[in-house]
Amino acid sequence: MIRLSERLQGIADWIEPGSRVADIGTDHGYIPIWLKQTGRSDYIVAGDIHEGPLQKMRDHLDRWLEGDDSGIFLRKGDGLKVIGKGEADTAVIAGMGGLLMIDILSDDPEKTLSVKRFLLQPRNAQDKLRKWLLDNGFAIADEKLVRESRFVWEILLVETEGAFGSPEEALKKKEAYFKGAEEQYEIGQHLIRRKDPNLPDQIRWKKEILQEILDGACRSDSTEAKERSREIAEKLQSLERILNYVNDERRTDPLY
Ligand SMILES: C[S@@+](CC[C@H](N)C(=O)[O-])C[C@H]1O[C@@H](n2cnc3c(N)ncnc32)[C@H](O)[C@@H]1O
Repeated sequence: MIRLSERLQGIADWIEPGSRVADIGTDHGYIPIWLKQTGRSDYIVAGDIHEGPLQKMRDHLDRWLEGDDSGIFLRKGDGLKVIGKGEADTAVIAGMGGLLMIDILSDDPEKTLSVKRFLLQPRNAQDKLRKWLLDNGFAIADEKLVRESRFVWEILLVETEGAFGSPEEALKKKEAYFKGAEEQYEIGQHLIRRKDPNLPDQIRWKKEILQEILDGACRSDSTEAKERSREIAEKLQSLERILNYVNDERRTDPLY
């Protein structure tokens, strides 16, 4: 039986038994192999834009499934183009940048809407992805943090029902997500409310990255650099407030 990394297991655990799954940007194909071996899904489309990863996946299928890869369909293509409308209930998009995920989700709104749930694990631009999702009426139903080597990664469980609808509906979902707390997109509200034990490390890591960018921006006198510095300084203050909240055992009202 294949053993998944904590990151991939964290994603796989959120796939409901019996779902028809699409793994977009599958690369090694470990999630499809795990789904097949455990019987959690018997219909899995594994898509990748490049031939190399699909070849690697074919080798992994031979190794782990010993010829019985029925129900796993390898398809080469860009994003959701590898599935038909309504072919998958759940789609995994993991290990890519948040901006690429936005491109994939916005390419064909009807196709995106035909998938009920997305499990997104962005490597970066998590704030831009969260904002785009909420501005476009998606519901961020849950979030989790998982460790892989020295990093902490975010996984978002996103529901599509009502997405790409009216701005009023999108606003309602956004309000339901923030519940009156500070509107920031760097750190997931579910993680803050739950005081996720991995959150302090994740915040420290994000602060380090932002501080490095701020140090670079401070060396320039341009108007853009000043504006960028101001934005980053605000983000750093917001992260500090969240860290204080998470570390204060007496507080249960996130950032009111
Ligand atoms: C870093 S790997 C992540 C593999 C796996 N999903 C994981 O999380 O471990 C990213 C994969 O996405 C593929 N990819 C990049 N852009 C893509 C796109 N627009 N559509 C489908 N696959 C894409 C790459 O070829 C690569 O195999």
